[in-house]
Amino acid sequence: MTHILSEDTLTESLEIGDDALAEITLILEMRRNFSMSIYKDKCMKRRIAIRMRSCRCLDAAAYCNLLRQNDQELDLLKKTLTIHVSQFFRNPSMFEKLQSEILPSLFQKASVAQEGLRFWSLGCAGGEEAYSLGIILQESFARELLQTPTEIRASDIDADILQAADRGEYNEDRLKDLPYSIRERYFVPNGPRVQLSADIRKMVTFHQQNIMDVETFESCQLALCRNTLIYFTRPDQEKILHGIAHILPPGGMLVLGKSETLVGDVRRLFTTICPLERIYCRL
Ligand SMILES: C[S@@+](CC[C@H](N)C(=O)[O-])C[C@H]1O[C@@H](n2cnc3c(N)ncnc32)[C@H](O)[C@@H]1O
Repeated sequence: MTHILSEDTLTESLEIGDDALAEITLILEMRRNFSMSIYKDKCMKRRIAIRMRSCRCLDAAAYCNLLRQNDQELDLLKKTLTIHVSQFFRNPSMFEKLQSEILPSLFQKASVAQEGLRFWSLGCAGGEEAYSLGIILQESFARELLQTPTEIRASDIDADILQAADRGEYNEDRLKDLPYSIRERYFVPNGPRVQLSADIRKMVTFHQQNIMDVETFESCQLALCRNTLIYFTRPDQEKILHGIAHILPPGGMLVLGKSETLVGDVRRLFTTICPLERIYCRL
C-alpha cells in the first residue's frame, strides 16, 4: 500500500507566479549565464519550489531576494533545476556490497534480536534506488524475508516524482545498468516504456517528506541518502546528517553518494565500513 503524506503548511504557500518565474529566469541569466527557456515552466516552478522549501522561504518574493543576495543559493538552484533523476542499480558496485555484506549482517542481527527491519531511500526521485533494493531482497533474501518483517520506505520532497515512482513506469535509459535476467524477470513492456512488476512495487511505500526534517522520521536500520546532500549548503548537510544519525540505531548503516561524504562533527557518530562505496555504520 502506498502512502503519499502531505507536506507541512509551507506547501500551500509556495505559489510561483509567471512574474516571479520571469524574475528568477532573469537573475539566472544575468548572474550565471544559465537559461531556463529550454525547460517546461511547470517543471521549473516545481524545482524552484523545492529550493524554496529547503530554504524555508514562504513566498516567491522572499526567495527572489535571497537569490539576489546569496551566490551559494544561486548555484544550488541551478543544480536543482538540472537534476538528473536516477537509475536502477546506479553505481552497481555499491549494490553488490549491500547484497554480499551489509544486508546479510543486518538480517542476522535482526533475526537474533527478533526485530523487523526498515530501509529508507532518502531523496528517492523516481524510486529506482528503493526498487533496486526490493529486487535484491526478492532475489537473494527470500528466506530472510519470511522470518524478518522488512519494510522499504522512499521519500522525496517532490510530489509529482513520487506519483510517477509509485506507478513504476520507466524509460529504457533508467534500466541501462540492469542485468538482462533481472530485466526479463521484473519488467514488462508498456507502450514505449517498461513497467516494474507489481511484486516489487508493493514492497516500497512512498512518502512526501522534506529531508531537512529527517530527525523526525521513524528509525531505520539502513538509510540510503545518495546524490541528494550535494544540493544543500554545508550547514544544511550537517543538519541532515545529524538527523540521519538520530534515526539510525547503533549498528545502523548509512550510504552516501559517490561524491558525498560525512561533514562536520557528525563524523564522530559513525565508523567507515567502505570508503569507496561511502558506507558508514552508526556507533
Ligand atoms: C539526484 S536525485 C537522487 C536520486 C537517488 N537518490 C539516486 O542517487 O539515484 C535527488 C533527489 O533529491 C530530492 N530532493 C531535493 N531536495 C529535497 C528535500 N529538501 N527533501 C527531500 N528530497 C529532496 C529531489 O527532488 C531529487 O528527487
